[in-house]
Amino acid sequence: MNTYVTGTTIKQLRERRNMTQTELAEKIGVSSKTISKWETAKGLPDISLLQPLAGALGISIIELMNGEHIINKNVSANMLRSKFYVCPICGNAIHTLGNTVISCCGITLPALEAEETDNDHAITIEAVEDEHFITVHHPMTKQHYISFVAFVTSDRLQMVKLYPEGDAQTRLQLRGMGYLYYYCNQHGLFKKIV
Ligand SMILES: [Fe+2]
Repeated sequence: MNTYVTGTTIKQLRERRNMTQTELAEKIGVSSKTISKWETAKGLPDISLLQPLAGALGISIIELMNGEHIINKNVSANMLRSKFYVCPICGNAIHTLGNTVISCCGITLPALEAEETDNDHAITIEAVEDEHFITVHHPMTKQHYISFVAFVTSDRLQMVKLYPEGDAQTRLQLRGMGYLYYYCNQHGLFKKIV
């Protein structure tokens, strides 16, 4: 696999920045003929020139070597698009801001799809002072229990770990619109709009 910078990449990136071969050459201290050679696959830039070349082309060395310009789209910026992953073997619970590949205990975990609250996983929310008292009406045995409760708003995540044989209750500050998530180890993820 050729992972070194290619002439095609240099040419494309240079043209995208409306630079002539001479202009690029001046920026990195080589001759325009050298640039021309690189672009026509008659030579390769020395590794010591990769940093200045990437800088002149306005990209990172990794992008230069991959031949693509990676734009930070920041599409995962909204916490309301949060994803949860739970490992069925060790119970690890992972929160991400977007789709990703998560593996735990040697298995790849799917992003959990939250269901609407049902009768077997009913939830009550009670305002107590400046907090809210959350109760999930659900068993908490070693075999069947609520493993966490989380409240997600556009900019904040609060997550509380619950344990078998403990109470399926916690206190959270429910400020603003958000989603209250809770996870049953047997029936999966539930979501309630708050
Ligand atoms: Fe359950």
